[in-house]
Amino acid sequence: MDDPLRLEVIVASVRPERFAPVVADWFLRTARSAPGIEVGVIDLAYTPLPTDLTTTPQVEAFRERIGAADGFVAVTSEYNHGYPASLKTALDSAKREWRAKPIGFVGYGGLSGGLRAVEQLRQVVAEIHMVSIRETVSFHEAKRKFDADGNTADGAAVDAAHRLLRQWAWWARHLRAARATDPYPG
Ligand SMILES: Cc1cc2nc3c(=O)[nH]c(=O)nc-3n(C[C@H](O)[C@H](O)[C@H](O)COP(=O)(O)O)c2cc1C
Repeated sequence: MDDPLRLEVIVASVRPERFAPVVADWFLRTARSAPGIEVGVIDLAYTPLPTDLTTTPQVEAFRERIGAADGFVAVTSEYNHGYPASLKTALDSAKREWRAKPIGFVGYGGLSGGLRAVEQLRQVVAEIHMVSIRETVSFHEAKRKFDADGNTADGAAVDAAHRLLRQWAWWARHLRAARATDPYPG
């Protein structure tokens, strides 16, 4: 049980002109510096998942990757007070693979900082038997919060990212042990 925890960071926005990589890369650097966590990226822009939810070889590969993870962090923008449709399709494209695993959120957007998207996501992930992490990273007016090198001077966000990762690791560690000894009833 001392194996590193497997965290998959899911990048939600698929817009060609998206700001997402700036936020995601910043969070990935933070996550990769955290002890005991092995970090992967599932960028939905490069993960073809049909919106009609048919099973394709890519969907099967996606499910396998979700199943192998100990938990997730979704980096999500906000569109019209909701989260991207691409992220809903991703959540709907697997089932048991999500269960009894933690998910944290890094939200960004205009005035709202992605917070409305994140609060909606908490309802959805509860339905698929996940635990959502209390601490949220939020960037309002996100494009103004990063310099040309992709760094941020937003101390609250930096602090929240570290807290989120600590809380995520606690849940991931304990849920991994629990899943191994006492299969989740579903
Ligand atoms: C269709 C659309 C709707 C948006 N609605 C909101 C919103 O409701 N609240 C908000 O804070 N920002 C909103 N924004 C601003 C986006 O969150 C912001 O542009 C963000 O950078 C988008 O992420 P992306 O560039 O990675 O796709 C909206 C942007 C678009 C394109």
